[in-house]
Amino acid sequence: MKHILRRFKQHHITADDILKAGSVPKHVAIIMDGNGRWAKKFGLPRAAGHHTGMKNVKKITIAAKTIGVEVLTLYAFSTENWKRPKEEVDYLMKLPQEFFPLEIEDLEQNNIQVRMTGSKEQLPEFALKPIENAIERTRHNDGMILNFALNYGSRLEIVHAAKHLAEDLLAGRIHTDDINEQALNDRLLTSDLPDPDLLIRTSGELRLSNFMLWQLAYTEFWFTEAYWPEFNEPLFYSAIREYQNRARRYGGL
Ligand code: FPP
Repeated sequence: MKHILRRFKQHHITADDILKAGSVPKHVAIIMDGNGRWAKKFGLPRAAGHHTGMKNVKKITIAAKTIGVEVLTLYAFSTENWKRPKEEVDYLMKLPQEFFPLEIEDLEQNNIQVRMTGSKEQLPEFALKPIENAIERTRHNDGMILNFALNYGSRLEIVHAAKHLAEDLLAGRIHTDDINEQALNDRLLTSDLPDPDLLIRTSGELRLSNFMLWQLAYTEFWFTEAYWPEFNEPLFYSAIREYQNRARRYGGL
């Protein structure tokens, strides 16, 4: 990790470099991983890692907005995260009620539209309310979409889409021939968002952890060993620069 961070200190990539270099990914998705290990590295409780991770959301949101990203999706809580010790789940659930009241004015001023991808069921009222308020307050903003994947799991999302297709079929609203990629896509939680162009995962883990399995079919991946609380603008812009150098062929030549 050290050499990666040092390298990016030397080649300090800025928003200007990105804008001069070429097209910017429309939709960037980030698996914010490594809060716990970051805390451990400094002898702090895991909650401190999550809290510092939460603080980092704003910085990367502004960095994304600065270069003209249209959608930034952040994986904040997976359907599998309920398996963590109750104390940690309780702490994670408290983050929205700290984050949104603190940041809502800035988000509004930056013309950012807050959204959520995930199941509202199971989420306690005190976690859901602040995000719903933020969604409502920023509904009319037409700048970058800041999309929180919260209580999100991709396999469950695909199962639900398949169920909707079956219901529509049984009710005679569609025929078997109507079942195609578009029809399934239309029934996903992300139906009104473009697929991510770039996926970033922090903390050195190289897996998807049930995140947007369908939507990531042609996405470019970028991994860093930096833990989420220490992920910063130069690293974010490095990911974007590397994306700009990749040739996307979508299976063609
Ligand atoms: C993964 O690190 C991170 C999470 C499960 C939580 C991510 C949430 C945030 C960064 C804050 C989100 C902010 C809002 C406003 C909802 P980990 O705990 O798995 O780290 P480890 O693998 O090192 O243990």
